[in-house]
Amino acid sequence: MKALILAGGAGTRLRPITHTRAKQLVPVANKPILFYGIEAMVSAGITEIGVIVGDTREEVMAALGDGSAFGAAITYLPQDQPLGLAHCVLIARDFLGDDDFVMYLGDNLLEQDLAAFVDAFRTARAGDQPPDAQILLKQVPDPHRFGIAELDASGDVVRLVEKPADPPSDLALVGVYLFDAGIHEAVAAIEPSPRGELEITDAIQWLVDQGRRVRCELLTGWWIDTGKLTPLLEANRLILERIEPTIEGTVDEASVIDGRVHIGAGATITGSTIRGPVSIGPGAVIENAFIGPFSAIGARCRVVSSEIEHSVLMDDSSVIDVPRLEDSLIGSHAEVMRSRRKPRALRLMVGDHCQIDAE
Ligand code: DAU
Repeated sequence: MKALILAGGAGTRLRPITHTRAKQLVPVANKPILFYGIEAMVSAGITEIGVIVGDTREEVMAALGDGSAFGAAITYLPQDQPLGLAHCVLIARDFLGDDDFVMYLGDNLLEQDLAAFVDAFRTARAGDQPPDAQILLKQVPDPHRFGIAELDASGDVVRLVEKPADPPSDLALVGVYLFDAGIHEAVAAIEPSPRGELEITDAIQWLVDQGRRVRCELLTGWWIDTGKLTPLLEANRLILERIEPTIEGTVDEASVIDGRVHIGAGATITGSTIRGPVSIGPGAVIENAFIGPFSAIGARCRVVSSEIEHSVLMDDSSVIDVPRLEDSLIGSHAEVMRSRRKPRALRLMVGDHCQIDAE
């Protein structure tokens, strides 16, 4: 079995961060979102991985390399324009051959271990009525934002619609799909949707209409499509809740470390309180500061005389003399400073290399 991971597309909803970087590389608990997907594939025993890349290909390729660091072999599949999820399958035809494969959206994060989901497909494929596809569904409060499945009384998939104005159910398609080679016929048969994309939901609907079997499973753990700020901070919170507390950097006697806290190698904490769950990247400098729960401070960041809570600071950014920063995403190499005369909390999304003087 192979994997097809989608890391192209345009990240319009996380601008300004995604003006300069791939949305799949924005960090959650100090690790790029995409790495969680690759690791999930490898731990499900899938090491032959095709990665769809678009405008941000150089950055994605620099981050993943040839895949050997993950125990995988990565083949890059360039997509000139984000023409849809089914278009990704179309251009991956040669890489996929006639093998079964998992398609994984590079901006999705799941709590559940995917091995059981993959094994269920393998087992079903070896049975009397082998399915051609398997989808994963999750109940959501805002079904108009997702692909939605309608099931009949016996739990079989009868209809799939992409981001419907009038949703037939609240069962969203999670960004992990399993297919056999039959999907290639489906993606070749469908037409672009009104938004101009070849939709994978239409391709799966084509399978259903042809009488092919589409299995579905209900996801039990949490699932987050990280393409927006609030879900991104939520994902950061959920992953930080299960980090291993480890202190590899140095902490002076005037500092207090409380709860689940990871401090990377070479980081220095002086005169500060760190209240977990918190992850502090290698080489970060924290001075006279308070870092509160659900914060991830990237590698080589500087936080001086400031309070930060429920925020993500990307690598090499600094926050100086800010009385309180919360629910924020700060791009790499960005600087936020001095708002002592306005002691209310700042809530910011700051792009890479920006300077914010909040005075
Ligand atoms: O997150 C689950 C949802 O993902 C599903 O419920 C929807 O049915 C499905 O269409 C998809 O919706 P999104 O609007 O969230 O998809 P998005 O455009 O964000 O693309 C998902 C990933 O695939 C993202 O990492 C970018 C990548 N991509 C996307 C397109 C359209 C590509 O690599 N190439 C593309 O052409």
